[in-house]
Amino acid sequence: MTRKLFVTTALPYANGPFHIGHMMEYIQADTWVRAQRMMGTQVDFVCADDAHGAPIMIAAGKAGKTPQQYVADIAAGRPRYLQGFHIQFDNWHSTDAPENHALAQSIYRSLKANDLIEVRTIEQFFDPDKGMFLPDRFIKGECPKCGAKDQYGDNCEACGAVYQPTELKNPYSALSGATPVLRSSEHFFFKLSDPRCVEFLEAWTQDGRLQAEVANKVREWFTRDEAGNVNLGDWDISRDAPYFGIEIPDAPGKYFYVWLDAPIGYLASLKNLLDRRGVDFEAYMADPEREQIHFIGKDIVTFHTLFWPAMLKFSGRKVPTAVHVHGFLTVNNGEKMSKSRGTGLSPLRYLDLGLNPEWLRYYLCAKLNARVEDIDFNPEDFVQRVNADLVGKYINIASRAAGFLTKRFGGKLTDRIGGAGAELLATLRAQHHTVGALYAEREFAKAVREIMGLADRVNEYVDQNKPWELAKQDGQDAALQEVCSVCIEAFRVLTIYLKPMLPALAARVETFLKVAPLQLADAATALGAHEIGAYEHLMQRVDPKQIDALFEPPAQAVVTTPEAAALPGGEALAETITIDDFVKVDLRVARIEKAEAVEGSTKLLRLTLDVGEGRTRNVFSGIASAYKPEQLQGKLTVVVANLAPRKMKFGVSEGMVLAASHADEKAQPGIFVLEPWLGAQPGMRIR
Ligand code: MSP
Ligand code: ZN
Repeated sequence: MTRKLFVTTALPYANGPFHIGHMMEYIQADTWVRAQRMMGTQVDFVCADDAHGAPIMIAAGKAGKTPQQYVADIAAGRPRYLQGFHIQFDNWHSTDAPENHALAQSIYRSLKANDLIEVRTIEQFFDPDKGMFLPDRFIKGECPKCGAKDQYGDNCEACGAVYQPTELKNPYSALSGATPVLRSSEHFFFKLSDPRCVEFLEAWTQDGRLQAEVANKVREWFTRDEAGNVNLGDWDISRDAPYFGIEIPDAPGKYFYVWLDAPIGYLASLKNLLDRRGVDFEAYMADPEREQIHFIGKDIVTFHTLFWPAMLKFSGRKVPTAVHVHGFLTVNNGEKMSKSRGTGLSPLRYLDLGLNPEWLRYYLCAKLNARVEDIDFNPEDFVQRVNADLVGKYINIASRAAGFLTKRFGGKLTDRIGGAGAELLATLRAQHHTVGALYAEREFAKAVREIMGLADRVNEYVDQNKPWELAKQDGQDAALQEVCSVCIEAFRVLTIYLKPMLPALAARVETFLKVAPLQLADAATALGAHEIGAYEHLMQRVDPKQIDALFEPPAQAVVTTPEAAALPGGEALAETITIDDFVKVDLRVARIEKAEAVEGSTKLLRLTLDVGEGRTRNVFSGIASAYKPEQLQGKLTVVVANLAPRKMKFGVSEGMVLAASHADEKAQPGIFVLEPWLGAQPGMRIR
């Protein structure tokens, strides 16, 4: 029976480009999907941008774009990464697409009809300047426990305390700096505490479909107190305008919380794909044989094992068959890459430096398993595994045998294979069920160990039969052709086993061997007296220098040695940018209306700038050591006018004044503010 799967990865927030952690999730899922397809499974594999929510709305505002424009720009950058790493989604959509609006509203209506939605009034912090309720992340203040300043509204990074935003001392809005006020508002709740939900979820999470460690973790939600009540609280699914999201039907000014419509985006992306194919979405979903599988990271388990299945179940839809949870990727044993803080290994830099994307696919697969374990990218380990295993053990088999076949036998393989060669091939072929099962179970590291173990056996065979010596001896043609044919056949079987991880390489091998796209079952049958093409080198070794370049911090080392003294201003030039990168920085002429010392700071001056906007801007500039306020007053200068406002200890800074300095301030002291030539007017753009 053919399995039929609907597979997704988590929908990434459309608030920034992909980081290496995203790529790991896609590589895991893509490899799994490719393996399934090679076993004859029918798969539809989709993803989308998670477009909604307050953080994206706010980021868009700061970038001077509509949220729609902002997420469209992020989406435009996605294909480079996906194609670059051979990640083959059947569709990439957006949670802001019409399909998602319609599906989210329809699912909500069903939940409501099922009496699972309740309206309650709650009190929340409101930013009177911005006229909006503040998400926890945008409220800051002093930790109620340890007093640390500038802590977020939900937890303290200094002492780890977790609290409500209302408990912060001296709270302020991270958006405007204003003191937030408490306001009440009606919110919509999904009644997860309803006995029907509890009963369903307890069964669904504990029936073996989840990884054991995941099931154990979510079991905590179902522990009962003396009164027999469980831990599962109702879920606040609404947000007040202004919000970038989907409107709640019959509730003006209310929007779905981003996590309500985000997973529905899985269905929306699928529906978009099926509509284009002319396939009926509801009929497709109603197929009882269709399995629905989500690949996600360990940080979003609650959403996918409680809220999401409950939403589906009680809106009368099919629930997920499985949720495949992975751990986090760290780099150089670094801290986990946070959503906001980016990474130590830029996927684009990796590609731009010409590193082979399949090295990364292979390396990550060689470490991935079916458990929720973090894995680490370690540069030495990476070089070792790629060079010694992938190239040294596998690629070399073909390069050692192909030349003789082409030169001496017109590329013809022999089908007369006996003895040790036949035994070796039988051993390799016999593993195709094991390898298939390891892929299906997401035990990629075990699969790699298994395959490299087989490659070792092939290399032993080559060393014992020494084709390079047979080639020099008279009357050994048949033996030489047999040994080389065994090698090529073994290489073909190993290529089949590696193909889900190395799809582009496998395609080149298929061309070289002149065979149709390889399926897993092809491992069981011999090529026979087949003619292959000319061998061209299939994969280079990693040059450790490339890895050094990958981790090099973007140029700025301070220069002290004489040979490096040629570096301008004491530092190497930054990475090359395009004109498009440059125009993102909006530089304007500004008149310094007022310059004042800042009490409590020896570094900063407070500048009041006229940027031709009909209002003035407040900018803090670290130039107090170089200028007296009266030297600056009335002068023109240049300001980065579209820099996100920054809340500083002394107030909000709305831009940055340009000034020159040497990388080594001690060796060459001085800060020099830029001044345009006479005639420039405040507000003029610098281009
Ligand atoms: N938008 C939500 C998901 C909505 S799904 C309906 C989200 N987005 S995210 O961009 O923050 O994360 C997307 C996926 O990347 C998640 O599965 C997350 O666990 C995964 N990862 C984020 N950082 C990661 C690593 N460092 N390593 C591996 N996966 C990581 O959450
Ligand atoms: Zn604290």
